Amino acid sequence: MGVASAHTPTISVERLTRFDHNDLADLCDAADAAIGAGGGFGWVKPPPRHVFESYWKGVLLVPERHLFVGRLDGSIAAAGQLVRPTRNNEAQAFSAQLMHHFVAPWARGHGLAKLVTLAVEQAARDNAISMINLDIRETQIAAIQLYEGLGYTRWGVHPHYAKVDGRMIRGFYYHKFLDPEAEAILSKAALTNPGDTP
Ligand SMILES: CC(C)(COP(=O)(O)OP(=O)(O)OC[C@H]1O[C@@H](n2cnc3c(N)ncnc32)[C@H](O)[C@@H]1OP(=O)(O)O)[C@@H](O)C(=O)NCCC(=O)NCCS
Repeated sequence: MGVASAHTPTISVERLTRFDHNDLADLCDAADAAIGAGGGFGWVKPPPRHVFESYWKGVLLVPERHLFVGRLDGSIAAAGQLVRPTRNNEAQAFSAQLMHHFVAPWARGHGLAKLVTLAVEQAARDNAISMINLDIRETQIAAIQLYEGLGYTRWGVHPHYAKVDGRMIRGFYYHKFLDPEAEAILSKAALTNPGDTP
């Protein structure tokens, strides 16, 4: 009789610029499962598969969107998007959004969400972005722990943020400075905002 060995899964993250092998199907499956388990990244019900596939293919075509995927033992099980402002939005060019971040329920608790978040932050730095913004339903307790643990600051609450099963849910808004120098410069700029003077 063999001795059972505990398998430690391998996790990895990468920016996806095209779909190879089972990537598209795995991404749809992972997102489908995450939505079914409570979502939290926009969808309330999983869309039909052809709609989902078109959505992910579309994401790769948008220049301002960078799609990051997390893999568990080689298969896509997580995703997150770095979304930069459009090119005409010079005023907010220093910042970007972290959006549509999820991990399939069967892949949670292995550090994939943290890995994807850190990869998104590094990509932002590489693109000369000094602040990440994100917003989240107040019901996404694990994600709130994740982001606050990684240094995101909650700066606002939207009282009518999302409607799920007929119930209005509040939204929490967060930001994070990606480096102390940027924080000092941006904080000083905020302090000298003419709108703030009494
Ligand atoms: C939030 C979510 C992405 C976390 O995924 P995950 O891969 O299990 O997270 P990780 O293993 O990387 O854990 C990172 C941190 O998240 C927090 N966290 C994860 N699961 C948690 C849980 N069940 N309860 C409380 N905190 C939790 C912890 O702070 C953890 O850090 P620690 O391990 O040092 O304690 C996942 O639960 C999910 O997809 N939720 C639904 C979608 C969602 O809320 N997306 C974010 C909004 S866009």
